[in-house]
Amino acid sequence: MTIAVLGATGMVGSRVIAEAVARGHRVLALSRKPGEGDPNVTPLAVDVGDPEAVGEALAGATATGTTATGATMAGAAATGVTATGATAAGVTATGVTATGTPATGTPATGTPATGVTATGTTPPRPPDAVILSVRTFPADREFLVGATRTVLDAAARLGTRVLVVGGAGALRSPGDPDLPVADNRAYVPDEYRAVALAGTAQLRTCEAHADADWVYLSPPAELEPGERTGRYRRGTDTLLTASDDGRSWISAEDLAVAVVDEVENPGTERHITVVHRSST
Ligand SMILES: NC(=O)c1ccc[n+]([C@@H]2O[C@H](COP(=O)([O-])OP(=O)(O)OC[C@H]3O[C@@H](n4cnc5c(N)ncnc54)[C@H](OP(=O)(O)O)[C@@H]3O)[C@@H](O)[C@H]2O)c1
Repeated sequence: MTIAVLGATGMVGSRVIAEAVARGHRVLALSRKPGEGDPNVTPLAVDVGDPEAVGEALAGATATGTTATGATMAGAAATGVTATGATAAGVTATGVTATGTPATGTPATGTPATGVTATGTTPPRPPDAVILSVRTFPADREFLVGATRTVLDAAARLGTRVLVVGGAGALRSPGDPDLPVADNRAYVPDEYRAVALAGTAQLRTCEAHADADWVYLSPPAELEPGERTGRYRRGTDTLLTASDDGRSWISAEDLAVAVVDEVENPGTERHITVVHRSST
């Protein structure tokens, strides 16, 4: 599969990319300042606040639909989109300006690509799935809502499913389904309430979207870098706690496992969550 990850450099996004690549997927890594990737990762500088750039990046710059064997990354830049690493050999997309050197063919510095310029390769195609995993410090509800709408709009035009890595605050409280976690001080201290409410607004944005195919994954209350065990327990719209210690937590590595599992085998629920699962 080709998977686009928005928020590629983040705690979650970087682990999702590592998990996806380890499973043999190609990744389009999008953020404002993406780093260099491995040959199966195409970094693109995109501000998710720029709907045109997001749309172009998802629709046209996914030249990874071809097989870029080895480090055959050239560089493709659309309006507001800059490839800092690589795209597949010789394929650029409508409205994309190649600023690098294609792996095959002539140097393309400054040459606007008005169509698919590759010979003998498949045309650019949209990613099979988009992961949205962005946030700002401090939490910015309007940014999150706008970014989510932008990505849902672009993905809906392409017919691509979106997995939103959202917040625990959007879940129901265990044992009290009418109490949103965002309003539950047992899980959300006052200082995190704005973040939690921004996540709830993000879920509402998904629910209000008429056309997009989306799933909203709420992490448990605690999400931090840690160990990849490959295990987790999956639920729907109610916060889960681990059976061994009663904490609502998971490592970012295991969250990434759950994200890629969901992309590979989509469930039917729109709102899901996961929690750490002990080995016993
Ligand atoms: N318990 C919980 O509920 C919980 C805990 C942690 C995280 N989360 C959620 O998990 C998701 C990911 O969080 P995280 O911890 O991985 O975040 P993070 O480490 O802060 O990373 C944020 C990512 O967003 C990108 N980004 C920010 N503004 C952007 C913009 N304008 N355009 C494009 N990219 C932009 C950043 O890259 P650039 O700066 O390069 O653009 C970065 O890759 C968020 O939705 C967060 O709320 C939930």
